[in-house]
Amino acid sequence: MERIMIIMGTRPEAIKLCPLVLELKKRKKYDVLVCSTGQHRSMLDSVLRVFSIKPDFDLDVMRTGQTLSSVSARILKGLDEIFTAEHPDLVIVQGDTTTAFAGALAAFHKRIPIAHVEAGLRTYHIDSPYPEEFHRQVIGLVTKWHFAPTEAAQDNLLREGKKKKSIFVTGNTVVDALRFTLGNDFNRPSWNLPTDYRLILFTAHRRESMGTQMTGMFKALRKLVDEFPDVIAVCPLHHNPQVRSAAEVIKGHERIRIIEPPDILSFHQLLSRTYLVITDSGGIQEEAVALGIPTIVTRYSTERGEGIKAGVLRLAGCSENGIFNLGKELLTPNSKVYKKMKTPTSVYGNGDASVRIADILEKVM
Ligand code: UD1
Ligand code: UDP
Repeated sequence: MERIMIIMGTRPEAIKLCPLVLELKKRKKYDVLVCSTGQHRSMLDSVLRVFSIKPDFDLDVMRTGQTLSSVSARILKGLDEIFTAEHPDLVIVQGDTTTAFAGALAAFHKRIPIAHVEAGLRTYHIDSPYPEEFHRQVIGLVTKWHFAPTEAAQDNLLREGKKKKSIFVTGNTVVDALRFTLGNDFNRPSWNLPTDYRLILFTAHRRESMGTQMTGMFKALRKLVDEFPDVIAVCPLHHNPQVRSAAEVIKGHERIRIIEPPDILSFHQLLSRTYLVITDSGGIQEEAVALGIPTIVTRYSTERGEGIKAGVLRLAGCSENGIFNLGKELLTPNSKVYKKMKTPTSVYGNGDASVRIADILEKVM
């Protein structure tokens, strides 16, 4: 029996890999092991609870205020020991986090074949997103099977010289997760939000924006809520202490709710009733595109060009004025620009990416 080890460490990796874990576990051909690096703690565990997945290994590396190098070093050391003891035939990593990067590097050091889920996303700006652009390019160098979510991602890999037969376009497993959370009759918590207000859902966490820039993003949100009396905002705060300190400027506003990160079931429910998303998150951009929810991306570039092309995502940059001005345009009643953005698309697939990936692995392994 082939042994597959799936590595995950942060919230978005768990959201996008849990559907694949469940799918691979259905296939008799594999012994599926899940290894959590614990790069995130509560934010990761909350996803695992929703999908009822208990990792076989947990490196528990998270420390408050961890540096990129310290996390990488702890993961490399931990995985080296686990790979030596367990001899996986394949290691699966997802996306572009430190967990994915160190997971791929540890597997490369042991000469274990690597499959990369969500392969081929690029901005080609090495500092944006930082350090994710570096991570995903390096992972691409050592990957045997690239699971690209879209044709555009495949094209990036081909341009970089990866062999066509090593790349498979599968859709993004984030849509599988959306189907899991919104497609079933879950008992969802009531948000107790007044229905006669338009809802802005705001998140921020990118490393390259930390400091004054991120404070400016929160200030732009506050100004938008002040400008439009029929708007309320919900801000689930990432656990990074630097995000929490930037968010000080929105405290005490009667129409801005600052909340702890809801679990993925509640978050998707909230998202599905949102009027306007303002975010720098990768996963939320994709979910908004799948659901057709107009979204302001608080970054200067995005690797989710499909969403820009589809018209659902608009790049505002990171400045307070840039975000405020675009937000004002979209929130102005009867905004034609807003209406055009409200179009769901299946550019990230129909929720069967995990099945496709599992089918392909059964053929190639
Ligand atoms: C990481 C990823 C980023 C991804 C993001 C998803 C890297 C370099 N970055 O960034 O690509 O978009 O996760 O959210 O891999 N913390 C907690 N509890 C948690 C999670 C985080 O307290 O459950 C705090 C800790 O103080 C930690 C800090 O957040 O030191 C930052 O976490 P870290 O994983 O280093 O970076 P993220 O900004 O979360
Ligand atoms: N998410 C969540 N709770 C929150 C905020 C986000 O469950 O409070 C989910 C969201 O639906 C998406 C994922 O987390 O699937 C995105 O993670 P994040 O923004 O942390 O990372 P990124 O996608 O930018 O790497």
